[in-house]
Amino acid sequence: MTVPDALRATVSRIRRVVVLTGAGISAESGVPTFRGEQGLWKQFRPEELANVDAFLSNPSLVWEWYAYRRKLLSDAQPNAGHRALVQMERLVEDFVLVTQNVDGLHQVAGSTKVLEIHGNIRRNHCQHCRRPAQVDLLQSEGPPKCDYCGGLVRPSVVWFGEPLPMEAFGEGDRAARRCDLFIAVGTSGVVYPAASLPLTAKNAGAYFLEINPESTDLSRYADGALRASASDGLTEVVTAIASGRNSP
Ligand code: OAD
Repeated sequence: MTVPDALRATVSRIRRVVVLTGAGISAESGVPTFRGEQGLWKQFRPEELANVDAFLSNPSLVWEWYAYRRKLLSDAQPNAGHRALVQMERLVEDFVLVTQNVDGLHQVAGSTKVLEIHGNIRRNHCQHCRRPAQVDLLQSEGPPKCDYCGGLVRPSVVWFGEPLPMEAFGEGDRAARRCDLFIAVGTSGVVYPAASLPLTAKNAGAYFLEINPESTDLSRYADGALRASASDGLTEVVTAIASGRNSP
């Protein structure tokens, strides 16, 4: 497993990097992915748990599901993949991290520029008036009522059928259009519009690298692939970028 030669040859000229992360980067922190044999969507039905109709018809069930997932995160710590991205942010002039993950582990690791396009499970807001709610998913049995309007409080994650946070996605999309290198890591690339970002970058002339132990729906568009875990693959890329910075 090494960085593809074509990428290594140009690594000293890379100034703008965008990384799109998915559940696979947190797998090594013990957080389950969604798809695949061990994935959450093998055991649970997203249409019953991750959309607004499900929440309105059975708020307690949906709240319980997110409390369960929040609990899984209680002991989770960032891994070497998250930490490699902190280093990458320090090495690269223009670095943007776009994550589909709602676990907040990039920020815990120390990444400062994180665009959360699917929200964050550690935050909550009112379904009715949208105001943020200071509620801990783990402390409340069922969704509490909003202090302002009495609406139901829900986790601040994007559900199927809901629009993405426009500002965060727009910023990620603009960064994808100007980057030299786009890396998709730990994502199956089946959920749009997140999965459109590597194609946007590639169409604008970027080198597209996929890091994933398995091939995915994005693989056919990739200029190169590291068939490795996020931690090994990202460590390898950071080492290559750092050596490119040190060479004359
Ligand atoms: P998926 O569960 O669809 O895909 C996880 C990917 O991670 C797969 O391609 C695995 O091969 C890969 N993988 C597993 N272990 C890995 C490791 N150690 N290192 C690197 N890669 C590894 O997760 P996402 O692509 O993130 O949506 O799913 C996208 C969206 O679907 C999620 O954000 C969520 C879900 O429904 C929302 O919450 C809106």
